[in-house]
Amino acid sequence: MQTVFEIDHPLVHHHLTHLRNKESTPHIFRSQVRRLAVLLAAEATRDLPLRSKTIETPLTEMEGTVLDVRIGLVPILRAGLGMTDAVLDLLPTAEVWHLGFYRDEHTLKPVGYYQKFSSHPPDIVFVLDPMLATGGSAVAGIQRVKDWGAKEIRMISIIAAPEGIASVREAHPNVKIYVCKIDAGLNDSAYIVPGLGDAGDRIFNTFV
Ligand code: PRP
Ligand code: URA
Repeated sequence: MQTVFEIDHPLVHHHLTHLRNKESTPHIFRSQVRRLAVLLAAEATRDLPLRSKTIETPLTEMEGTVLDVRIGLVPILRAGLGMTDAVLDLLPTAEVWHLGFYRDEHTLKPVGYYQKFSSHPPDIVFVLDPMLATGGSAVAGIQRVKDWGAKEIRMISIIAAPEGIASVREAHPNVKIYVCKIDAGLNDSAYIVPGLGDAGDRIFNTFV
């Protein structure tokens, strides 16, 4: 079963270049995150189940089709928030459940600080985080979603390192991963290279 999907699309290449560019201001960066999140979500929802629905157009009655699944979005704070509204525009009935992790700058391990889940998980959960670096945050986030009881989980990231992809595949072999680009690797500080820098800081303009 294919579990890693790297989207090869001219719009992805175009918008990703503007996203990576260090000259892109937070305003531009946020727009690019949203555009790429839509393109990723279109790919990650390609096989969602449908049911038929009878409607009337201004001309006639017809059988249409609508989504037939309870969908949850789980953005990993903070940077995952940058993708959430864009994906919600495509999936307006989705529920949004938040998960907070930051990466400890010394140990590089994810530290959980927030979780807001309901008692009944959705049928399918899309975990949103633009960066999949060591994979620590994604592995821990997906584990929380699994512990919640979700049966179908998909990871949506804009840029991944091969190391992050490998660790998610090892820990969660059934989780499909959708990315715009798998980059060359990680530097000594576990930043993705060529990457785009710190996604959270670039979205929220929090450089110190
Ligand atoms: C970034 C990113 C991921 C994580 C990826 O978040 O958004 O959550 O790092 O790194 P990993 O794969 O090595 O775990 P960060 O910890 O910087 O928090 P932030 O979103 O609040 O800036
Ligand atoms: N988190 C980021 O925001 N960027 C990286 O390159 C790695 C982790």
